[in-house]
Amino acid sequence: MEASRTRRRIALLVAAMVLAAGAAAGAAALAVNIMERKQESRNPFYRVVELTDETVDPAIWGKNFPLQYDDYKRTVDMTRTKYGGSDGVPRAPTANDPREVTAQSRLEEDPRLKTFWAGYAFAVDFREERGHAYMLDDQTFTERQVVTKQPGTCMHCHASVYVPYKKLGGGDLIKGFEQMNHMPYMEARKLVEHPVACIDCHDPGTMQLRVTRPGFLEGIRALKASQGVQNYDVNTMATRQEMRTYVCGQCHVEYYFKGPDKRLTYPWSKGIKIENILSYYDENPHKDWVHAETGAPVLKAQHPEFEMYNQGIHARSGVSCADCHMPYKREGALKISDHHVRSPLLNVNRACQTCHNWTEEELTQRVNTIQDRTFELRNRALDAVVALIGDMKAARAAGKTDADLKTAMDLQRRAQFMVDFVEAENSMGFHAPEEAARILGIAMDLARQGQLAVRQPDFQPSSFPTPPGVKPTPREVTPPPGSSTGGSGH
Ligand code: HEC
Ligand code: HEC
Ligand code: HEC
Ligand code: HEC
Ligand code: HEC
Repeated sequence: MEASRTRRRIALLVAAMVLAAGAAAGAAALAVNIMERKQESRNPFYRVVELTDETVDPAIWGKNFPLQYDDYKRTVDMTRTKYGGSDGVPRAPTANDPREVTAQSRLEEDPRLKTFWAGYAFAVDFREERGHAYMLDDQTFTERQVVTKQPGTCMHCHASVYVPYKKLGGGDLIKGFEQMNHMPYMEARKLVEHPVACIDCHDPGTMQLRVTRPGFLEGIRALKASQGVQNYDVNTMATRQEMRTYVCGQCHVEYYFKGPDKRLTYPWSKGIKIENILSYYDENPHKDWVHAETGAPVLKAQHPEFEMYNQGIHARSGVSCADCHMPYKREGALKISDHHVRSPLLNVNRACQTCHNWTEEELTQRVNTIQDRTFELRNRALDAVVALIGDMKAARAAGKTDADLKTAMDLQRRAQFMVDFVEAENSMGFHAPEEAARILGIAMDLARQGQLAVRQPDFQPSSFPTPPGVKPTPREVTPPPGSSTGGSGH
């Protein structure tokens, strides 16, 4: 009895020791594994070459990061989606333009755009955008270069300019930026070699994300100041998740060239909603060109992806550009970001299904529904502006003067910029569906009011945005009962 109890105790003790030893070994193994993983994620590469703040060539970075480099190179791919992606159109190379393939012409797709931009370089050549690999060539060889002398400012978003700016500015990034801005384009072109490269988004020492573009450094500072945050420095004050959007906001934004120095400026000091931007352009009086058929001082909107995205549900929910356009993928033991930046519809599985428990068909269908609706409104709004332009042209032919058409010209400027804001935004409404619909609805109203103004000399428009000095309508300050009163979400 006694002996058997002792034996049992010993057995238990041994079992416990074995278990403990096992657990300890397990814990040790786990600790090693965690350490390895941490090491992996902190230093997930074999450092083959030393990268410095002067290493522009992505192929050199690619020696340390072959997986990211391989995906980066795949931005040459061209695959069409219903409203986006890209398709290559073959062309016969010429002495002036050696490209054998270009992107689809938007002017051929929709000839109304030629009327829309009459008198401006965009009416001569405007194409679908395609992958990052083409950005420098497509800019160098667009016919917009032939009809207008373009400034070095253009380079800011179409080349790896970080090192060239610093060289030009004797080590000072901003000084170099200022100097390149007022160079002739072809002179600046000689100073750059690569499209957007690793060094433009990454610190070579830590690989952390960083913003290198002066336009965004200054633009986001002005925007934050308008929200009460002074001296905002994006590289020290933004969260990591914000940086996953800001690195794209360096280029996918509305911009203009300010003053005789052609300083690249993002018009955000009053905010980034379209009304803020319009009133910025009214107060710092700016026109991109005078419309050839109506004489109105008009504006061209360009790719306001960052601004529109900020008005949408995904920005509000903290989802970044990179979440959809550079989703994580597994390569063996590593989780990497897909550097093949492209339409998420070519990659729904990773771009959307990590968050949404819907089938691929359902997700694609949801995007298509939003885009079809936006496209229909966009077409009607474009028709309305083209009708206004036609009426104004006829009125001019009948002898009407600038004074007679003042109200109509003002309405054209606003309506046209609003349609263009959605037209130039490359997601066909997906980034912010309600905002796109709201803008197009207002644009249609303004264009039709413009037609009334052509006919009635004393027509009083209910114009938009509210002119300076006039109190906003109560609707703008008091949300209807039950609606969200949350912050602006960015
Ligand atoms: C929730 C996912 C999501 C987020 C976040 C998002 N996008 Fe998109 N984006 C899309 C979808 C979907 C499309 C439509 C693609 C199409 O029609 O093929 C699109 C289209 C685009 C396009 C045109 C692509 C093409 O192939 O024509 C660009 C450029 C773009 N987005 C840039 C951005 C930028 C810059 C940001 C951040 C400021 C951003 N996107 C945030 C999902 C997203
Ligand atoms: C603020 C950044 C920025 C600046 C400055 C800029 N671009 Fe772009 N550009 C983009 C982005 C983003 C795209 C892709 C989205 C699109 O096409 O809407 C693009 C697309 C293009 C394209 C291809 C599509 C098309 O329009 O045919 C051409 C050509 C082009 N830009 C020329 C120019 C020229 C010329 C200048 C100077 C007048 C210029 N860009 C200045 C950001 C910029
Ligand atoms: C240095 C400026 C710059 C930066 C930074 C940049 N882009 Fe672009 N992006 C462009 C230009 C310019 C084009 C058009 C190139 C062309 O048409 O030749 C473009 C094209 C695209 C396209 C269209 C691709 C296709 O196949 O049609 C997408 C999508 C896109 N960018 C998303 C992003 C996202 C997401 C980020 C951030 C991770 C980003 N871009 C960062 C300038 C930039
Ligand atoms: C337009 C901006 C942009 C460019 C250009 C770019 N990256 Fe990235 N990269 C990102 C973003 C966004 C992430 C995600 C970072 C995060 O979540 O903190 C990333 C992450 C990484 C990481 C961390 C691991 C991972 O995959 O998430 C490595 C390594 C990396 N990039 C290497 C490169 C290399 C090499 C190049 C040039 C061939 C390059 N990147 C070009 C935006 C860029
Ligand atoms: C990082 C997570 C994340 C990713 C990636 C993401 N979404 Fe979302 N999406 C959200 C969140 C959060 C919402 C807000 C509504 C909610 O909570 O369900 C949302 C909302 C939506 C809505 C609006 C739903 C409604 O009821 O109004 C649609 C449509 C949508 N997403 C489609 C997409 C598509 C298409 C993609 C891929 C291109 C995508 N999302 C990628 C997180 C994400």
